[in-house]
Amino acid sequence: MTANELRTKYLEFFKSKDHAIIPSASLIPENDPTVLFTTAGMHPLAPYLMGEKHPLGQRLANCQKCIRTSDINEVGNNRHLTFFEMLGNWSLGEYFKKEAIEWSWEFLTSKEWLAMDPHRLYVTVFMGNENSGQDTESIEVWKKVFASVEIEAEVCPYNTKIAGNKNYRIFPMPAKDNWWGPAGETGPCGPCTEMYYDTEPRLGALQKTFDEEINDFRVMEFWNDVFMEFNKIADGKYEKLAAKNVDTGMGLERAISVLNGKKDAFDNELFWPLFEKIEELSGKKYDSHNSPHPPLNLRGGENINPPQPSFTKEGEDTVRAMRIIADHIKAATFILADEKGLTPSNVGAGYVLRRLIRRAVRYGKQLGIDEIFTFKIAEEVIKIYQDTYAELKKNKEFIVNQLVKEEEKFDETLEKGLKELEKMKPEKIAPFSSKSFMTGYGLSGDDLFNLYSTYGFPIEMSLEEIKKLYQEYNQKQVVNTVELSKDDEDRILQQFHEALKKHQELSRTASAGMFKGGLADASEATVRYHTAAHLMLAALRQVLGENVVQKGSNITPERLRFDFSHSEKMTPEQIKQVEDIVNEQIKKDLPVSFEEMTLEEAKAKGAMGVFESKYGERVKVYSVGSKNGGMSSVEICGGPHVERTGVLGKFKITKEESSSAGVRRIKAVLE
Ligand code: SER
Repeated sequence: MTANELRTKYLEFFKSKDHAIIPSASLIPENDPTVLFTTAGMHPLAPYLMGEKHPLGQRLANCQKCIRTSDINEVGNNRHLTFFEMLGNWSLGEYFKKEAIEWSWEFLTSKEWLAMDPHRLYVTVFMGNENSGQDTESIEVWKKVFASVEIEAEVCPYNTKIAGNKNYRIFPMPAKDNWWGPAGETGPCGPCTEMYYDTEPRLGALQKTFDEEINDFRVMEFWNDVFMEFNKIADGKYEKLAAKNVDTGMGLERAISVLNGKKDAFDNELFWPLFEKIEELSGKKYDSHNSPHPPLNLRGGENINPPQPSFTKEGEDTVRAMRIIADHIKAATFILADEKGLTPSNVGAGYVLRRLIRRAVRYGKQLGIDEIFTFKIAEEVIKIYQDTYAELKKNKEFIVNQLVKEEEKFDETLEKGLKELEKMKPEKIAPFSSKSFMTGYGLSGDDLFNLYSTYGFPIEMSLEEIKKLYQEYNQKQVVNTVELSKDDEDRILQQFHEALKKHQELSRTASAGMFKGGLADASEATVRYHTAAHLMLAALRQVLGENVVQKGSNITPERLRFDFSHSEKMTPEQIKQVEDIVNEQIKKDLPVSFEEMTLEEAKAKGAMGVFESKYGERVKVYSVGSKNGGMSSVEICGGPHVERTGVLGKFKITKEESSSAGVRRIKAVLE
């Protein structure tokens, strides 16, 4: 079965059950501040799940393009994707558990539809917690449908070995697995029941706990029925929604793979042409026998699927790299194709886009591709999907241009950062003896922070580089030890973030938390705002007078908030003047530099500071521009700052208001 056939069949099936077919919504959510991207089919429907009336009725179905970056580090194994298509059907306060489960079953197993083998199907249900009890209603429906094919489905107690009991079909799971949503901090959510397919029936009956069978990649989840009858509200509480809703999501890539007897979401026509292109560009071979095996480097535990005889470590790295490139560039292509015209940037969704492209480029280099190449992959993506998603063809030129531009930019950063990391290597590596990566390799989060603050080298890439070095040394048997453990990685990250915090006032915001590694990602953006704050203070003093001093500031990846002493409301003219001065300084691409000196010296130099704050004896003084350059911002500050003002973009004041008596507050953004 092809992806096109499955899409068509799914929609036909639900049409036959009186569902209206709706188009895929934009990948970039409309009026929804809780997420950066559409992460599931239910997203654009959230208002209707909350009770609004949908113009097409109470039964809907569609195929929605989705971006999910929460599992970005897992991409490369056989099932995680950042871009995927989700087939979904919804009941807006109409049918509920019984119909949803019965129809899922009918579509999957009936000869007329997918004709999957019911003996290979397993399901999970919600086991209950303080918010909601065990989902006995779903359990009863599942028992009934299994009974219709003479399987006497039993409930397997949580965390219990299946030990070959073929009747264990229903697995209650805790909220972390079987409570879906909300996608952001608040919104519709509820218990869910997930469907799994046995990808390796030749290995006989399942033996381990269900969790272990999932983690060993033996069973693959491919469809999720969510029973959305709750709303999570701001203070972490749950309230019942007015209506009981159904939200289901079937992962198209996983579903066609299991339907075709494959055990890997990449083994289908939505990926093959991409791998062929990458093979051509790199001269390396994509051999799925080298698919990363969980125990080697993705998951713990013993291996139920021993590597094929042809398996090599290098082959595994190649497969992983090719999957990451294919997945990330596919995601980037779809984001760029969106009519919203999003481009790579240092904030929000633009930053995620940047990160996807740059990560793909990194892996391209690992494969030995040393030309600008991502646009060539994008062209293949467009060919695969253009008949289903017209926006790809329509925006082809824009997609290609943006990819080329971003790749060129990144090449510059990368070159500098990698050189530095190389330099760090020999001296740090000497005491290589311990089992622990951190003590063995000797690199600390502080080193990586320096690399980051000086060269803009992203922390996640530093970690990846270090992992590679570590493997190299392992292979050369310099040490005989394990790979970088999760604990070590966490410790490095923690040190990195501590160093980051020491150097700047960084507040974790909702948006920073929205994607994994949020702090590190967000920090690139906050550094820019930090420098903008210096320029703005100098401009404010120029326009409003020397009475202006800083009273406070708060920076998030999306904006700058700045309090300063001044007693009157600023006029629109004054606001414009401040913006113009700052933008002028940005345009001049002035260098930003610092010197260390005593507090006395700093004051004598006329450096600004928040003088209610306590400073140490020696301080850092940041200056923008040269002494004779006209505009001067000289501030006592811990940094970090950008190297040159040119990278700040366009500065814009979005709000000016009173903060407290004699103190005004400005909100500003960099566009
Ligand atoms: N919202 C659920 C999911 O994303 C079902 O569509 O899995």
